[in-house]
Amino acid sequence: MGTERSGEPPGPSGLPVVGNARQFASDPLSFYEEVAREYGPIARYALGGRVFYQLSDPELVEQVLVHENDRFDKGEEYRRILNPVIGNGLLISEGEFWREQRHRMEPAFHPEALAEYAPVIVEHTERLLDDWRDDTVRDVHADMMQLTVEIAAKTLFDADIRKYEANISDALEAVMDRSEKRLERPIEIPDSVPTPGNRRYKRALSTLTEIATEIVESHDGSGDDVVSRLLRAKPNADGLDDEQIRDEVVTLLLAGHETTALALTYTLYLLATNPEQADRLGAELDETAGRGPLSTDVTAELSYTKRTLREGMRVYPPVQSVIREATEPVEIGGYELDDGVVVTAPQWVIHRDPRFYERPEAFRPERWDEAFRESLPRFAYFPFGGGPRRCIGENFAKQEMRLALATIARDWEFEAVTDELSLSPSITLRPDGPVKLRVGRR
Ligand code: HEM
Repeated sequence: MGTERSGEPPGPSGLPVVGNARQFASDPLSFYEEVAREYGPIARYALGGRVFYQLSDPELVEQVLVHENDRFDKGEEYRRILNPVIGNGLLISEGEFWREQRHRMEPAFHPEALAEYAPVIVEHTERLLDDWRDDTVRDVHADMMQLTVEIAAKTLFDADIRKYEANISDALEAVMDRSEKRLERPIEIPDSVPTPGNRRYKRALSTLTEIATEIVESHDGSGDDVVSRLLRAKPNADGLDDEQIRDEVVTLLLAGHETTALALTYTLYLLATNPEQADRLGAELDETAGRGPLSTDVTAELSYTKRTLREGMRVYPPVQSVIREATEPVEIGGYELDDGVVVTAPQWVIHRDPRFYERPEAFRPERWDEAFRESLPRFAYFPFGGGPRRCIGENFAKQEMRLALATIARDWEFEAVTDELSLSPSITLRPDGPVKLRVGRR
């Protein structure tokens, strides 16, 4: 792309040592937006002694995630944080090992497999709704977290996670919380120091290991779920062992349930605050889905439902930024980046860029007609990332969200009790507290 420019990309000048920490700490999402607005498609900033290059242009994102993918990996920082939790799981493995694991796991995400998961998704959603009462307030984030962890465990591992009750959700929450704090603070108290935080984290890690071990041990390799497929793959040249399979179980739980729960939570919140769009969704569900059983054939016809979810993930992308580290010198946006440089591709910024989206802050599922979709640059919308490392669970998540949203919204309507969302961006874009909606029967 273009000729090489001399020097470094522009960016906000921060104080030595702390860099741009102060501006960042007060409102990270506005900070990213300001960096893009003020300094353009490629900008440099420093946080906690680390330098980041923010790419705010779809073409540059495509270059890193697709064309130059071989010159980047997930990076030291990601591995340091996630390795204690997911070992060498798919989210952070690299090279030939990653390629083989991805290949082994992919069949569990093929369309035929996904169609089989549909009744499980609907059944779990209906079970959740059995607990809802007309005209009461629910924390829909908590509800969606519980729902998606149950669905992931049942469909992908054929495991009924309810018997572990709240343990697994609490444990996942504790390790995610800890991992995300570590990303923000490079100087940390070592795990060996018995602080309350460290004790909670260690307990959570051993709970997850125990549950994942039990899940692996309950399989004999004869089924079609991911665990059975991985068990059949061993022993092989790499010596795929139970520990590696356990790591993939935790990886899929971690990567698959929170993101999907966030997308559903934010979509419900957006429907609660946009009654006109909620009415249109309700009308489509009455007309097309009716009262009959919901299946993938039915959801395929639900075009407004699909647009609603698509728009929800534009306004509030569950993964707010994809991060890569250069493994060799590479030219991006006209600048020569050294190996070791960390680049960020922020969905939050690009999904709200007024060059691509008119009134970007408005929730308008109707904007997604075919002509609009075709007019967009490829990486103007990328909630699931892109290139070889794009989300393995994309179609699974889309299917799950369509079935769950259709099941919920054909019978229920919402009113926001939490009137302004407070967001806590880290690896994912999480709400800073409960997301309370008043639920009522339609
Ligand atoms: C709305 C829901 C979801 C969103 C927004 C989402 C987003 C993403 C993104 C952006 C990436 C790329 C990360 C990167 O390039 O660094 C990713 C990767 C991944 N996702 Fe998802 N995800 C979702 C659901 C799921 C589900 C349901 C599963 C599994 C059941 C899953 C499993 C994974 C795994 C294993 C990877 C790593 C893939 C690889 O590196 O080969 N995700 N996801």
